Amino acid sequence: MAAKIIDGKAIASKMRAAIKAESADLRAKEIIPGLAVVLVGDDPASRVYVSMKEKACTECGIFSDEYKLPAETSEADLLAVIEKLNDDPQIDGILVQLPLPKHINENNILEAILPAKDVDGFHPYNVGRLVTGNPLFRPCTPYGVMKMLEETGVDLNGKNVVVVGRSNIVGKPVALMCLAAHATVTICHSRTLDLPAKVADADIVIAAVGIPAMVKGDWIKEGAVVIDVGVNRVGDKKLVGDVDFEAASKRASAITPVPGGVGPMTITMLLFNTLESAKRRANG
Ligand code: GUN
Repeated sequence: MAAKIIDGKAIASKMRAAIKAESADLRAKEIIPGLAVVLVGDDPASRVYVSMKEKACTECGIFSDEYKLPAETSEADLLAVIEKLNDDPQIDGILVQLPLPKHINENNILEAILPAKDVDGFHPYNVGRLVTGNPLFRPCTPYGVMKMLEETGVDLNGKNVVVVGRSNIVGKPVALMCLAAHATVTICHSRTLDLPAKVADADIVIAAVGIPAMVKGDWIKEGAVVIDVGVNRVGDKKLVGDVDFEAASKRASAITPVPGGVGPMTITMLLFNTLESAKRRANG
């Protein structure tokens, strides 16, 4: 069976058009959705992400306020920036780009962001709301995965979902979102015994481990849906996912490519969350 390719770029572009329209409606009511992006240091990948976020905001009518701080910024100074943004009525969302330099305690920073402006969904309050099935902000990449499954018409009810990876940014939250959608969820990781057998049992595989082509094509159950969250640079330029795409696409019924799969959805969901926050502001 040749798998249907799940086109993240097309899904993202459709969603961005809707966000742009809603943002224009808010602007007509003098509410300009605002996102603050804070980057500490000069990690090249983070720089690229931050400039992509800025461009996407502009395209969708979202005001973007950027803070590029030097790598040696102290934790206290970063906390002061967050405090200022928490109090700024023009700012609906605050995103602190991760990873942070080693001398800054990431938890202290994420906990300082006002949960009502935590468009990344990383504050323990938002994590707790996701765990208890009453989410306020959902983390962007896993939320994007859920939107892609929905757009592709994949019903999770009662299905076996295997998540490979247990990060706070993707693995754990996507597992919770699938559970909320009534799937039976297994979270696998680097210590999982007999990973191929676990994956072989999955109706939906979500790979988020950060190891190039780690999930092999012959592990995939015939007709399964495969979502590849991995973005791994091999050699100078080439990007590959966590799944062996060529082999897996011969067995899957639907699969996301890398690039052009989950990638474009992450920023789209950041815009979506920022718009949601601005709508809450508009509604008092
Ligand atoms: N670094 C890698 N992914 C993310 C993300 O989704 N949000 C933030 N803030 N930093 C990241």
